[in-house]
Amino acid sequence: MSIYRVFFHRLRRFPGPVLASVSKLWHVAHCLDSKNHILLEKLHNEYGDFVRTGPSELTIFTPDVIPAMFEGINNTFTRPAWFDTSRPYSGLTNERDTSIHNHRRRVWDQAFTSKAVRNYEVQVKAYADQLEQLIAQSEGQLVVANQYFQWFGFDVMGQVAFSKDFNMLRGAQWHSAIKVFRDGLAILGPLTPVPWLMRIGSDTPGGSNDLKAMIKWAIQQMDARMKLEVDQPDVSHYLIDWSRKNNTLKEDMDTLRGDALSLTVAGSDTVALTLIYLFYRLARHPEELQKLQTELDGLEDVSDFSALQHAEHLNGIINETMRLHPATLTGNHRETPPEGAMISGRFVPGNIVICSPRYIIGKRKYFAHAGQYAVWLGRKALLTRLSKLVESCFEQAKEFIPERWYSKPEMIKNKSAYAPFALGRYVCIGKTLALQEMRCVTALLASKYDVSFPPGEDGRSVEEDTLDQFTSSPGELRVIFRARQKRLEPKPRSM
Ligand code: HEM
Repeated sequence: MSIYRVFFHRLRRFPGPVLASVSKLWHVAHCLDSKNHILLEKLHNEYGDFVRTGPSELTIFTPDVIPAMFEGINNTFTRPAWFDTSRPYSGLTNERDTSIHNHRRRVWDQAFTSKAVRNYEVQVKAYADQLEQLIAQSEGQLVVANQYFQWFGFDVMGQVAFSKDFNMLRGAQWHSAIKVFRDGLAILGPLTPVPWLMRIGSDTPGGSNDLKAMIKWAIQQMDARMKLEVDQPDVSHYLIDWSRKNNTLKEDMDTLRGDALSLTVAGSDTVALTLIYLFYRLARHPEELQKLQTELDGLEDVSDFSALQHAEHLNGIINETMRLHPATLTGNHRETPPEGAMISGRFVPGNIVICSPRYIIGKRKYFAHAGQYAVWLGRKALLTRLSKLVESCFEQAKEFIPERWYSKPEMIKNKSAYAPFALGRYVCIGKTLALQEMRCVTALLASKYDVSFPPGEDGRSVEEDTLDQFTSSPGELRVIFRARQKRLEPKPRSM
């Protein structure tokens, strides 16, 4: 089998570590520290734009891979076996069958109309105020801010998804169930390259207990929610209501429980971690914070969601944070259609798992065309000699420059490299809500506080200690929030 995989397999011409082409266990052995994003960056530097990272898996670093995999509602790339991890509880984030996914997506769409999202904004604002009050209590003192943003993300999700208040911000402490959930996500760090190992673990008595506990917890949330009457529709309301109206509640139970897991994973952690990186960036770049404060000082009301939608620097900061620190660093794999596909001028055979690591693509440099041939020949030495790092998708790609998203568009050379919410059929359904949450918290805190690292620290451990646990898990954000001294008068409202 090993000889077949190395010398005769359809991917034999793609370069990569030989043992990776023999078994995915090679990848697990190299991800025990949950640093898959760093491993893939090294493989990119060593082998180029197409790297064989498994017997039937390619990791592709060209920006074109993103539209190829995701763009277009009729895109023929599918979700690979990794998405079966939580079966039989298959929610929207995990559904692999495209016709079932299309149907479930229509059900979910009702929970994310503009009107529905406007109703959730009341909850977002209430929890943002609680977050601000918590920060006010430790004003001028060193805090590890990660937990504040995590509590915000989970409190909002609890309310918006299940009409449940986890009370973490108000109580200033972790809810025990959320700890279970966080531990469940941690196992995805080392095991994510081999979905079958995760499944064996979760199907075996005593194996992958954290993952099982996480799934069990999500099931309990949906089961409890079904017994609840609510005045204000939450996301679960639309999902349960659809099944009730169609008399399919019994058959839909596993799907609804899977949806609870989808909501929890997709809807809380992603927002929280992005806010952690965003405030890390504001502390590292005080000049950007200052520009943001000037912009916010010009608004009549910093909690006006429609005004924040048009605040250019605020939105530039959010985009730039997600470019440099995407919520999924290496995840969201896809499988090529049976007939194969052309990606960046190369034919990739059918039923091959493709990984497109946003973390690297967002700040990569192109290999010159000659490099492509060198990769094809699979000669490392030749690759090094012939390929030239000629151009990046983003000018000064490693720098934090929010203006590239509004006043300096010439600094974006290839927009395909940026898709933090994905595209096409599987595009993030919670994108509008997520952006509203991030705008609301950032505007509220930045308008009231300066944020800085404690003396002698540069905060880099936020990045350096980041773990790739399917979602990104940032290192400790140790910062001091200090009340701002000066606030300019708001601009008079134009008639
Ligand atoms: C910064 C915040 C967020 C980011 C960066 C993000 C990113 C993503 C990405 C990349 C996907 C595509 C996954 C795939 O390709 O399989 C996705 C899907 C999804 N997201 Fe988000 N997300 C965020 C917030 C949210 C929120 C707040 C919710 C809901 C309350 C949410 C719910 C979902 C769901 C349900 C899907 C699955 C969509 C489908 O398969 O049709 N996300 N998200």
